[in-house]
Amino acid sequence: MPPRSPHTLLPIEVTGMSPVAAPGVRDRLRIAIQKNGRLSEPARALLGSCGLSWRESPDKLFCYGDNAPVDLLLVRDDDIPGLIDSGLCDLGIVGRNVLAEQAAERAGEGRGANFREWRALGFGGCRLSLAVPQGWDWQGPAQLDGRRIATSYPALTRAWLAAAGVQADVVVLSGSVEIAPRLGQADVVCDLVSSGATLAANQLVPVCDLLQSEAVLAGPVADLDPTLAETAQMLLRRIDGVMRIRDSKLLMFQAPRAAVAQVLRLLPDAEPPTSYPMEGEDMLAMQALCHGVVTWQRLEELKRAGARGLMVLPVERMLA
Ligand code: PRP
Ligand code: ZN
Repeated sequence: MPPRSPHTLLPIEVTGMSPVAAPGVRDRLRIAIQKNGRLSEPARALLGSCGLSWRESPDKLFCYGDNAPVDLLLVRDDDIPGLIDSGLCDLGIVGRNVLAEQAAERAGEGRGANFREWRALGFGGCRLSLAVPQGWDWQGPAQLDGRRIATSYPALTRAWLAAAGVQADVVVLSGSVEIAPRLGQADVVCDLVSSGATLAANQLVPVCDLLQSEAVLAGPVADLDPTLAETAQMLLRRIDGVMRIRDSKLLMFQAPRAAVAQVLRLLPDAEPPTSYPMEGEDMLAMQALCHGVVTWQRLEELKRAGARGLMVLPVERMLA
């Protein structure tokens, strides 16, 4: 067995080390995801849809990839940008809010960040919003002059205040921010809003969005080592495939040549279709990948336009 890499933090067996890899260079991709929380299940599900599986260690903080050189680290989401920045992890699935806050924090200290968003993943949507007590007559940011704002996102809040030219006190809290106005700790809050239930339960009203957030795949700004880059590219292709087919269906039908143009006008969300001439008839057998929902009503319209033998099929995997 080759010597253990000096950069290996966790007691991981270093197997499958390529003979050309320089000492100390990992050849297995490490992805950090949230251990517990709103993004942890959907993140695992996404990676599972990409065909990855893991043999979990007993403490479940490190999961060794079974069928690809991709290991999982289960961490607090706030730690993910730093793990990528330091190169201890290669990729992470984390909320844009966390990534943006830590980038803003570094920018405020005059240093750059070696992490950035690689892909938006389409789940875990929420927004970072400024919310004021019910009954306030909201006139705009200038109203916050001299006020106290409770938030777990001080860097984004300060950057927003600075851009608006407003002087306000930022009260940093790590959680349960919405209770601060009632406690007299702050006048307004700046926190994540998803359903809006927490704000409403605390008699607060969102008045302004600072950031639209969702789960993202984060990676370094700089290039990965070639071996890791190759594995990361494989993963990206699979993620793109999974995302493309998330709501997609394959539509199969036949149509007379003369009706094809009209039928296709009813499929603006479809990829360019494949078509085959049908023997002995002036008809085409066609299939088109539709990215929108194919309702009964649409099928009936397609039929009126001349299509027949309409069939809607689920798409399981796609590799562009
Ligand atoms: C998040 C967020 C809001 C709440 C928003 O809190 O900070 O408080 O969820 O969700 P809603 O609009 O659907 O009510 P979380 O549960 O993560 O707890 P924490 O802020 O105390 O860490
Ligand atoms: Zn909260």
